[in-house]
Amino acid sequence: MKIKYLLLFITIFLVFVNCEIEGLCDDGDPCTIDRFKILRCEHLQKCQAKDLCETVTCNRRQGGNCTVTPRCHARTLCEQALCDVNTGQCIYTPTCISGDRCSIASCNEETGECKITPKCKPEEICDERGFCVNCSDNNPCTTDFYSPYYGICINIVNEWMNCENTTEYQKCLKGCNTNKCTNAVCDKQTLKCIQSYKDCSDGNLCTADVCDNDLGCIHNNVSCDDGNPCTQDFCDNEYGCHYKPDPTCDGLSSCYSNKDCSDNLDCTTDRCEYGKCTHSFNCGFDQLCNKSYKCEKVRFEN
Ligand SMILES: *[C@@H]1O[C@H](CO)[C@@H](O)[C@H](O)[C@H]1NC(C)=O
Ligand SMILES: *[C@@H]1O[C@H](CO)[C@@H](O)[C@H](O)[C@H]1NC(C)=O
Ligand SMILES: *[C@@H]1O[C@H](CO)[C@@H](O)[C@H](O)[C@H]1NC(C)=O
Ligand SMILES: *[C@@H]1O[C@H](CO)[C@@H](O)[C@H](O)[C@H]1NC(C)=O
Ligand SMILES: *[C@@H]1O[C@H](CO)[C@@H](O)[C@H](O)[C@H]1NC(C)=O
Repeated sequence: MKIKYLLLFITIFLVFVNCEIEGLCDDGDPCTIDRFKILRCEHLQKCQAKDLCETVTCNRRQGGNCTVTPRCHARTLCEQALCDVNTGQCIYTPTCISGDRCSIASCNEETGECKITPKCKPEEICDERGFCVNCSDNNPCTTDFYSPYYGICINIVNEWMNCENTTEYQKCLKGCNTNKCTNAVCDKQTLKCIQSYKDCSDGNLCTADVCDNDLGCIHNNVSCDDGNPCTQDFCDNEYGCHYKPDPTCDGLSSCYSNKDCSDNLDCTTDRCEYGKCTHSFNCGFDQLCNKSYKCEKVRFEN
């Protein structure tokens, strides 16, 4: 009898300290984990989802294998499914996305084929509002670009672009009405002709400089002939026409006083000497009479 009580005691003891007794709680379901706990059998689900984003099923026929399937699936080939682990909510994002606001993305849901169609023509630029902007000025001499900062097109003459050979530039040059008296350049910014008149002046006061549309610059000799037989006529490149009283004219007219001899020329001193007029040159050593018969500095080359 004593041994019987002892065995009972041991059995109760084992039960209370949770020792599992083989087969005691087996419910025959491969999908549960069975155990004996504090006088009761417990049947825990073998297959458990680790978060809200997966679904786990247990295959009873395959010995309780767990099949894990993600909760969120892309509904078409054109989207990607993501799952929020905290809420289990599915988030679908398209996989076919256009790069800018000026192109349209279209996706074939059956094949997943993604097609990006640009709205803008090749020479157009997409602005920040999604409008196609045409910044082309049809000028091969300028670089065209769009400034998002100013919201305008900018066309800058680019000296690196060899535009002189282009038809546009040549057209501009042809439009220039040129002749031998004009200089024409084509303004690269506007492709308009800028014309200027040729400067024919040669800095030589002994020539009259004119321009002939066909012949170009002509430098005609200036005539210094003052029609006065009593002056010698000189021309100086720098100072122009100058004159000197001709001493051979002296003594030709009769007089009584200096007054009778006045020739009204400032560059001569008029005297009556022995009843005859003399007109002596009264300018400085480096001077001659100029066109108004005043003393004026010249070089003495002639
Ligand atoms: C079930 O699990 C066992 C052991 O892990 C494995 O050998 C077997 O292939 C699995 N069966 C299926 C259908 O996954
Ligand atoms: C862009 O503008 C230029 C100049 O106005 C014009 O000649 C050209 O045809 C335009 N291009 C397009 C694609 O509209
Ligand atoms: C312009 O064209 C000519 C002949 O076709 C060529 O010799 C010359 O190098 C070209 N000039 C430039 C700047 O491209
Ligand atoms: C102009 O004058 C220069 C120097 O006096 C002379 O050599 C030349 O022949 C003249 N030209 C004409 C067209 O008269
Ligand atoms: C002649 O010289 C005077 C004084 O030097 C000057 O005032 C005058 O303008 C000159 N006249 C001509 C035609 O050069």
